[in-house]
Amino acid sequence: MSGIDELFAAAAQVRARAHAPYSRFAVGAAIRGSDGGLYVGCNVENAAYPSGTCAEQNAIGAMIAGGERRIVEIAVLGDAGAPVTPCGACRQRIREFADAATRIHAGAVSGERRSYGMAELLPDAFGPGHLGGAGA
Ligand code: THU
Repeated sequence: MSGIDELFAAAAQVRARAHAPYSRFAVGAAIRGSDGGLYVGCNVENAAYPSGTCAEQNAIGAMIAGGERRIVEIAVLGDAGAPVTPCGACRQRIREFADAATRIHAGAVSGERRSYGMAELLPDAFGPGHLGGAGA
């Protein structure tokens, strides 16, 4: 199994645990960190709709809790007619822990996939460097 296949397999597994009773759109995300470890998350919706969280957001939380600080690659998987790309807010969340080599893989349950660099998804992004490195 290739590294990307492994990442999507992890995203598919965690996607099955999504709590998405309102949108019925389950999403799974899997991150490979610089230590080679995998960190996963699914979307967790809430009856108070804006309180719901995205799969990527929760995978990043798991990564940080696991002691990792760098996203080497992240796979996002949902059942849509096109590969599921991270929402705008999650692009910014990924950016915080990305670098020029980070790859973002969008996938659909159909098997369709597309990969991006960070700057393709969020050009000229605001980042830790704008704060003079504070928080980096
Ligand atoms: N969602 C994610 O978890 N990640 C994405 O990249 C796109 C959208 C979730 C949020 C919400 O629970 C549902 O999918 C529908 O928008």
